[in-house]
Amino acid sequence: HENLSINEKGHLEIAGVDAVELASTFGTPLYVFDEGLIRENCRKFKKELANLYENSGVIYAGKAFMTMNMAKIVEEEGLYLDVVSGGELYTALKANFPASRIFFHGNNKSFQELKMAIQYGVGRIVVDNFYEIELINDICKKMKKTVDILLRITPGIEAHTHDYIKTGQIDSKFGFGLENGHALIAVKTAVKMKTVNLVGLHCHIGSQIFETQPFKDAGIIMMELVKTIKDEFNYDIEELDFGGGFGIKYTKDDKPLPVKEYLEALVLSIREKAKEHGLKLPKLLIEPGRAIVGPAGMTLYTVGAIKNIPGVRKYVSVDGGMSDNIRPALYNAKYEAVIANKASKPLEEVVSIAGKCCESGDMLIWDINLPKVEPGDILAVFSTGAYHHSMSSNYNMLPRPAVVFIYNKKARLVIKRETYEDLIKNELFEDKGKTVSF
Ligand code: LLP
Repeated sequence: HENLSINEKGHLEIAGVDAVELASTFGTPLYVFDEGLIRENCRKFKKELANLYENSGVIYAGKAFMTMNMAKIVEEEGLYLDVVSGGELYTALKANFPASRIFFHGNNKSFQELKMAIQYGVGRIVVDNFYEIELINDICKKMKKTVDILLRITPGIEAHTHDYIKTGQIDSKFGFGLENGHALIAVKTAVKMKTVNLVGLHCHIGSQIFETQPFKDAGIIMMELVKTIKDEFNYDIEELDFGGGFGIKYTKDDKPLPVKEYLEALVLSIREKAKEHGLKLPKLLIEPGRAIVGPAGMTLYTVGAIKNIPGVRKYVSVDGGMSDNIRPALYNAKYEAVIANKASKPLEEVVSIAGKCCESGDMLIWDINLPKVEPGDILAVFSTGAYHHSMSSNYNMLPRPAVVFIYNKKARLVIKRETYEDLIKNELFEDKGKTVSF
């Protein structure tokens, strides 16, 4: 990526800052984000969409990477924010993110979470199921409030990276199915309900998508539904939210299209359908997560034990693993990496990068070509901005890594590394604890 370079010491630089120095200043494993690139990506989505479609908005999907500092960036860049839990909502509110710009998602929002959302006045609740509509109705009645909602629709499209299926399937835990008529029953219920104001419809067709066709089809399916709702209930749907899913590059095999192409496909189908059915153009929303933060992040590790099994494999172990990056173990996800302190050295050997968790499956990268690796080397793994920190755990009692933002060539610690004390802080323990120093 353009934000990467090699300096005169032969070290990798991210956004103009030496990665080896970052590792020695903040320790490893370390999540490093290029704040400039996050901001650039926010602006790119806003601009590309606005160029194609006047009445539009971009919602950052917080599940990809959610911290108060991130919420602040999203706020400053003028995006909306998608939260999926009371915890994400709390984080956003604590960062002074305006509640009116928050979209609240999730297939099992609790009474408490909904109450909190309604109390603070979130902009939209994206209602997933019938149980939730009733919960919202009850809460609004008690609190004497009304709330603007979108209904989450299952459009029968499933797009995962390279395979795209249009099954009309209703077998999903998310949303109201079209095939079984649930979508229209939900619309009917919401239209009648005094406590909710049905503003629009939502769908999300998948993640890490590399094709335009699923977006095009989603546009058609949702506009057909808008037309049906107009015909059956004489009700105007004002907003359509198409979720996220814009693919990014993890390795050379990933070939994402320019964002504009996905958006063009979507916009074209919406315009065509609006014209065909004589419908007003709805406000168009999208919810990118990965494409905003994914490419802006990298993880730095220190190499420790190296085990060579001659003729079989060389295992290079690093000081993190599935606790800071669950994606290889969970999705068989692939990554590229370099040795940050040997960035200009020739590639010399094929090794496999192992995490330090007590599980054979904790492998970060199988068979990667690197310069000669030695203990103490700093390994930089790319494209770790989305779904890494947010999916991290304390498995094996590993403290979560620190998070550093780079902006204007300056590094800023935004989340401290967890300590051992953090790991036990919520545990209730009757005996007097021992003093452990190390
Ligand atoms: N909107 C909704 C309703 C979603 O469910 C998602 C992602 C997004 C937006 C953002 O999608 P994105 O633009 O990031 O693709 N943990 C997985 C990804 C799960 C995505 C879930 N939903 C991974 O690490 O690949």
